[in-house]
Amino acid sequence: MTKARIAVIGAGLMGHGIAQVFALAGHDVTIYDQVQASLDSARSRILTNLKDLGDDPTAVERVRPVPDLADAVRDADYVVEAVQEDLGVKQKLFVEIERHVKAQTILASNTSVIPITRIMEGLRDRSRALGTHWWNPPYLVPLVEVIGTQWTSQAAIDWTIALHRAAGKMPVHVKKDVPGFVGNRLQHALWREAIALVEHGICDAETVDTVIKASFGRRLAVLGPLENADLVGTDLTLAIHQTVLPAIESRAGPSPYLEGLVAQGKLGFKSGEGFRTWSAEEQAALRSKVLQHLKKAR
Ligand SMILES: NC(=O)c1ccc[n+]([C@@H]2O[C@H](COP(=O)([O-])OP(=O)(O)OC[C@H]3O[C@@H](n4cnc5c(N)ncnc54)[C@H](O)[C@@H]3O)[C@@H](O)[C@H]2O)c1
Repeated sequence: MTKARIAVIGAGLMGHGIAQVFALAGHDVTIYDQVQASLDSARSRILTNLKDLGDDPTAVERVRPVPDLADAVRDADYVVEAVQEDLGVKQKLFVEIERHVKAQTILASNTSVIPITRIMEGLRDRSRALGTHWWNPPYLVPLVEVIGTQWTSQAAIDWTIALHRAAGKMPVHVKKDVPGFVGNRLQHALWREAIALVEHGICDAETVDTVIKASFGRRLAVLGPLENADLVGTDLTLAIHQTVLPAIESRAGPSPYLEGLVAQGKLGFKSGEGFRTWSAEEQAALRSKVLQHLKKAR
């Protein structure tokens, strides 16, 4: 992949990390945020990460914070948006971005779950618009889901996949633009049952997490569920499903138990209590454990 000019819109948790990955891959990166403080801290956050990971710290010199949206995207070959998860904000932003970019520039949204079709519906040229769903932290988790809409050109998909692969990511093509794409549909199908187990008093929250981490969670990084189904046999999988599927949670909306936690202000780390209680030390220890684990797996 030849050197590209990349614009990252939104310099928050995901945006600065995405900029870091592209800069480390040798691309020139502009980064824009409407909040000056976020823009100002982007390069120092990237430098800290690069040093911490033992990556080339001079990569940060390829990241240029730009305080004006039009200036940030004007010369870009590729624009990726990582602003807050709000459909209206994203729609407005892309209409504005399209006014300033070149005719061939590819436009990507890093939304977690909003259909790309909705975000891009107001564009004049929708063939160049797609989704790229990264995972946090972007410089440690390899997957990027590349999501096309009914309008996206194959050339835009192919170029975007090549861009991410050359930057060391593991891009996959999501062929239909459905809410949650692939990763978050799978993740939240599991969370729905995890919450239901607690809601119905089958076990407590700590037990749910222990069961996952100490059993199939150990294998998941090297054995996907469909590989696993083939490994044990589709006939055995069918037999298990005949017994288990009728018993597991299938409600369409969020759990009333979860709604209750939110209504009571039990917001997790933010408030010190969610499904479980969390001291500041426990929060820091868990964050650090996840980071160390991801670094080792890199
Ligand atoms: N945090 C995650 O784990 C994660 C993972 C995958 C995808 N995402 C998605 O990535 C996007 C960004 O998430 P985040 O966690 O980095 O959020 P964040 O709040 O850390 O960062 C968002 C940044 O966007 C800026 N911003 C908001 N509106 C803007 C606008 N109109 N123009 C320019 N800048 C604007 C904010 O000032 C902020 O700095 C969201 O769509 C989110 O759903 C997040």
